[in-house]
Amino acid sequence: MVIENNKILLAPSILNADFGNLYSQIKAVEEGGADWIHLDIMDGHFVPNISFGPPVVETVNRITDLFLDTHLMIENPEKYLRVFKDAGADSITVHIEVCKNINNTIELIRDMGLKVGVSLNPDTPIEKVFDIISKVDMILIMSVFPGFGGQKFIPDTLDRIKKLKKYIEINKYKLLIEVDGGIDTTNIISALEAGVNVFVIGSTIFKQKDIKEATRNIQKLYKKYEF
Ligand code: DX5
Ligand code: ZN
Repeated sequence: MVIENNKILLAPSILNADFGNLYSQIKAVEEGGADWIHLDIMDGHFVPNISFGPPVVETVNRITDLFLDTHLMIENPEKYLRVFKDAGADSITVHIEVCKNINNTIELIRDMGLKVGVSLNPDTPIEKVFDIISKVDMILIMSVFPGFGGQKFIPDTLDRIKKLKKYIEINKYKLLIEVDGGIDTTNIISALEAGVNVFVIGSTIFKQKDIKEATRNIQKLYKKYEF
């Protein structure tokens, strides 16, 4: 899965959305031009928080036709691939830290006809994903320790993105780099220049008064970098 003509993708994360107004909030990011919806699934074991599961993914799938980018921050993700696929996930991203056999997990997701992502926490060496890069559609670099929205972007993420981008370019691989956590107007361009293709953004969009406007304003920041 590669970006056509180097399009940059915006994936609002609903983790911090107002779940009492999920329909209108998702429509707002959709009308604001969002490309994907990022779904942060948390189990209270791999991360110190519990978010939502397949029923919410199903609801989002009924609300929008946008690509559902499903981020499993859960232990034993292999056990839940099918339920998230059936709920409407278009891609599933698993954490390398919890996969006992990452190659097998990648294959299971691929065999379900989904796009495949692998994610790593800020303290997991980037080299850990080098062996599987040729098998996935996307690498999701966490720029916060996962569990909560509204955290501060960890600055050394930029070097990690550059290192990953360099490895991808040297080996002529074709895949996306996605970043997740603390992305806002002050760091999005540095992350873009480091090599990010897909931005997961939660609070910078859903904590604003005008969500559609906030979605549009984010895109205005990087539009000139697309070619
Ligand atoms: C991990 C979550 C958050 C969320 C983004 O905890 O994945 O990073 O999506 O939230 P913000 O943009 O508010 O950091
Ligand atoms: Zn996420």
